[in-house]
Amino acid sequence: MTKNLSLLILLPFLFCQQTVNVITAASNDGICRLMVQSKGYFCEEHTVITKDGYILSLQRIPRGLSDDAIRDRPPVLLQHGVLMDGVTWVLNPPNQALAFVLADNGFDVWISNSRGTNYSSEHTTLSTDDPAYWDWSWDELVAYDLPAVVEYVFDQSGQKLHYVGHSQGTLIALAAFSQQKLLDKVRSAGLLSPVAYLSRMTSPLARKAVENFVSELLYLSGIHEFVPRGEAVMKMLNDICTRQGIDCTNLLTAFTGENCCLSTSTVPSFLQYEPQPTATKNMVHLAQMARDGTIGMYDYIDIGKNMEQYGQAVPPLYDLVNIPNDLPLFISHGGRDELADVDDVKFLLDNLKDHDSEKLFLQFIEDYAHADYVMAINAKEVVYDFLISFFKNQT
Ligand SMILES: *[C@@H]1O[C@H](CO)[C@@H](O)[C@H](O)[C@H]1NC(C)=O
Repeated sequence: MTKNLSLLILLPFLFCQQTVNVITAASNDGICRLMVQSKGYFCEEHTVITKDGYILSLQRIPRGLSDDAIRDRPPVLLQHGVLMDGVTWVLNPPNQALAFVLADNGFDVWISNSRGTNYSSEHTTLSTDDPAYWDWSWDELVAYDLPAVVEYVFDQSGQKLHYVGHSQGTLIALAAFSQQKLLDKVRSAGLLSPVAYLSRMTSPLARKAVENFVSELLYLSGIHEFVPRGEAVMKMLNDICTRQGIDCTNLLTAFTGENCCLSTSTVPSFLQYEPQPTATKNMVHLAQMARDGTIGMYDYIDIGKNMEQYGQAVPPLYDLVNIPNDLPLFISHGGRDELADVDDVKFLLDNLKDHDSEKLFLQFIEDYAHADYVMAINAKEVVYDFLISFFKNQT
């Protein structure tokens, strides 16, 4: 009943969005020009094509503000989370935002943008109007986007890279590492607000969204692009809030938890650029994880389809125990994070209990929630300075 209701509210909006939501990001109008060069930094736009034809944009900040030479700088790749894009790393002022802080600390900074987002919305043969364009979940980010981008940065810089993931950006890296992928090209990984297990998340809005909003029904009814922006979705979220008695006066808080330290001047520009679209299939996949408490591949529910796709009736699991024990990992999580919930992170850490202790740096920030990790005014002092010394210790 509720599922049908959500669907009714969504249908007109999503269909209408599919026809108008084609935005091509010419490189002269990309993140570099909009968000980086305007702050005085040198910035290059790059393009990577995945094996399945998605055209991804990458931005490179090869040096800091006061450096005139590109010395031998270790590359760092920044991977955003779901419903976000590369803009999240450059929203705060240069003395606060991770991309600039890294550039000013001697790193060669690369920012990736996952398929389906504003600056990575092109494909060699498909358009965002084609349902086939949206036929993917984070399994494909593990299988195609991540390897394509990591290989590109590795080739361009000629060195192994440090990786930083936020939210879903941590999930796809952990999944890839558990399959022994990327290990020859990645030097270490910083995981901010790590999302692996999702079944204990406390965000009331996200929990209800799992039940109501992101239903398999939505996907099976032929709505392939998940467009979080706009009046109709806001109205529907508000309906959930009213019906469930959730205080949604601040949607960001209702979803991510009580962020302690967001910059009041950054939140408006955050809301201007985020949230970004993703595939409905991806949202369904994340909802399946919240439902099942496991980290499995996308479940087609239909046994025949699972057989066809995986050669078995149930989707294979990503087994995080297989992450090599000597891979340098920096993990930081927050006490108020309602998406990367403390109990879910404990479960993740349980999988890493045999990890070499000198290769695992663990940080717990009591008053941080999900968005603080990319937008807190004090994130440099609280998290990034530690992350940078961690990277500098991995040679
Ligand atoms: C998408 O990219 C265009 C071109 O840079 C920009 O003007 C627009 O604000 C972006 N939209 C969003 C929602 O990020």
